[in-house]
Amino acid sequence: MKIKVLILAILIMSIGMSNKLQAQTIASGKKVLIAYYSLRNGNTRILSEHIQKNVGGDIFRIETVDAYPSAYNDVTTQAKKELQSGYRPPLKSKVQAFDQYDIIYLGSPNWWNTIAPAVMTFLDSYNFEGKTIVPFITHEGSRLGSSVADIKKLAPKATVLKGLPVRGGSVSSSMPDVKVWLKDLDMVK
Ligand SMILES: Cc1cc2nc3c(=O)[nH]c(=O)nc-3n(C[C@H](O)[C@H](O)[C@H](O)COP(=O)(O)O)c2cc1C
Repeated sequence: MKIKVLILAILIMSIGMSNKLQAQTIASGKKVLIAYYSLRNGNTRILSEHIQKNVGGDIFRIETVDAYPSAYNDVTTQAKKELQSGYRPPLKSKVQAFDQYDIIYLGSPNWWNTIAPAVMTFLDSYNFEGKTIVPFITHEGSRLGSSVADIKKLAPKATVLKGLPVRGGSVSSSMPDVKVWLKDLDMVK
């Protein structure tokens, strides 16, 4: 009986490993970083975890030194001012050995039709020459807005691929859309 349980455990483990290997093979030696900003560590975090389940890689949460206000209306007012003035909020931490990464999945909530200012600070903080950026955006109706165009402006030397927009309320059930998007981009089989 014990042996049967052991064999079953080994079988389950090896299926899991082969799935992981499959995703890594497609990325073929490319090192993946998934960096995301999420105001309350919510929708965009969930989407970044869906992506990681498919492509592997390291996850990095972009966080501002100063917290945004707790009331939603105050956040939207502050964000509008920051975007209009070009303010870049300082970030809490840096990616270790950023140069090792080839593909950077970059996630942001849509804020006033573009990426959150924290993601703009992130883009200003590293050299993206020769890197591939794959944007993913959560929103409440504006979809990608100008986020992909704005990422291109802030990282002009990167190759920026097709972005994925997912409505905030649908992130939990967005795994099929994530898979189709990654397949279209040839990131997974
Ligand atoms: C400051 C602010 C501005 C926003 N502006 C937009 C917008 O212009 N268009 C839109 O569709 N959603 C907008 N939203 C909604 C967010 O994009 C959406 O709720 C997102 O999924 C939040 O992700 P998060 O939980 O990872 O922070 C805004 C939210 C905030 C807080």
